[in-house]
Amino acid sequence: MSHTLILNGRVVSPTGVEAADVLIDGETIAAVGTPGFFTEAAPTAEVVIDATGKYVIPGGIDVHTHMELPFGGTFASDTFETGTVAAAWGGVTTIVDMAVQRTGESVQEGLADWHRKADGECAIDYGFHQIIGGVDDESLKAMRYLTEHEGVTSFKLFMAYPGVFYSDDGQILRAMQTASECGAMIMMHAENGIAIDVLVAQALARGETDPRYHAETRPSDLEAEATHRAIVLAKVAGNVPLYVVHMSAGDALEEIAAARHMGRNVFAETCPQYLWLTVEETLQRPGFEGAKWVCSTPLRSPDDEHRHHENLWKGLRMNELAIVSTDHCPFCMKDQKELGLGDFSKIPNGIGGVEHRMELLYQGVVSGQLSLERWVETCCTTPARMFGMYPRKGIVAPGADADIVVWDPDRQTTIGVNDKHHMNMDYSAYEGFVVDGKVDTVLSRGTVVIADDAYVGRKGHGRFIERELSQYLV
Ligand code: URP
Ligand code: ZN
Ligand code: ZN
Repeated sequence: MSHTLILNGRVVSPTGVEAADVLIDGETIAAVGTPGFFTEAAPTAEVVIDATGKYVIPGGIDVHTHMELPFGGTFASDTFETGTVAAAWGGVTTIVDMAVQRTGESVQEGLADWHRKADGECAIDYGFHQIIGGVDDESLKAMRYLTEHEGVTSFKLFMAYPGVFYSDDGQILRAMQTASECGAMIMMHAENGIAIDVLVAQALARGETDPRYHAETRPSDLEAEATHRAIVLAKVAGNVPLYVVHMSAGDALEEIAAARHMGRNVFAETCPQYLWLTVEETLQRPGFEGAKWVCSTPLRSPDDEHRHHENLWKGLRMNELAIVSTDHCPFCMKDQKELGLGDFSKIPNGIGGVEHRMELLYQGVVSGQLSLERWVETCCTTPARMFGMYPRKGIVAPGADADIVVWDPDRQTTIGVNDKHHMNMDYSAYEGFVVDGKVDTVLSRGTVVIADDAYVGRKGHGRFIERELSQYLV
């Protein structure tokens, strides 16, 4: 087994920052010791990384991605190969992607399809959640099977997108009851899709076809209402653990906070786009440019009475929001977003960002919105615990996989296509952003995959992670 030493860095965990050296034996962390403790071992270590002046953090875990998702008449533009390389560039060492099942399709075949797409392609490790787009006796049986035998222990349901992935309340209740019986987690896209479709049809009938109307027809009330309903259904289903995805609204967050205050196993994530981007600066740009930022839930105004951005940051500090994921669902403008020219409802929904989550959230540390420890907790450790990968993932500690990022706080990252991002997109949602901090070195299970501003990893290095039940429940 080869040995790697990371010397002179400051190791960050959710509970603190300490000067420490890290010894890696093969794929796992062998020991974390006081600086100098392993110096004797240094001559025999094949790889020595000097982390002087840098942070040593667990590899980022992005628990919400959509590689190759068939959606809106096209496919998300990152494959597992391109998407996981981009993730590695951004200090992410594990993704959990959403396998798809739709009405009338077999869940097992949907999962097998996702394994085929990812197997042998990935630069970093990966797991799957399973989208259940068609709740029926067969898919309910399959949920139990996946939980018990396939290492897929979380299931995404949709209160939005009628006719695509949508489930009605009865179907949601049944799926939640099944999850409750087998200990699985329900992930919820919480927007009232039936009401949204009425607003969309009315807007189009008035000739309101520009991208800006995407946000106007998805008001935060309909995110808050659906969030509330999901929380009630989860209680009725036997207090199934509920995880609300891509939260963008302050009023929806209040529903989560209230449920958590009552001691429920209710959790939520947000994404960098909801923390940093505003509807005024994006969707409301003239012409069709706003299409770049069409995603659901939509971007919102910071001036709204619910103070969405401000409250999302607060929610992250208060643990009302447990995790930051990206909901990485990239589409190019050319031939993809353009499908919605003249009709905003036909713009494929999604934003790519798997490469930029760590630095965009580190900017929250720099601007005083988050502590360093909370940055690591929301981007690395809680994702591992929430989705059954801890302590193998999400922590720099003996026995854990050596998924490690050396982070340079003294460099800056410039984001954009012009700065050669690695996602397969012809634009960046964050074009021109200059943020503090930069990925210096990334190790995936002991193997260096990013160093000296170069990708040195290997297609197929990434392995499928069979996940346990959530380890985050009370
Ligand atoms: O706009 C989004 N979020 N696209 C991806 C699918 C989903 O709803 O997560
Ligand atoms: Zn969604
Ligand atoms: Zn998503």
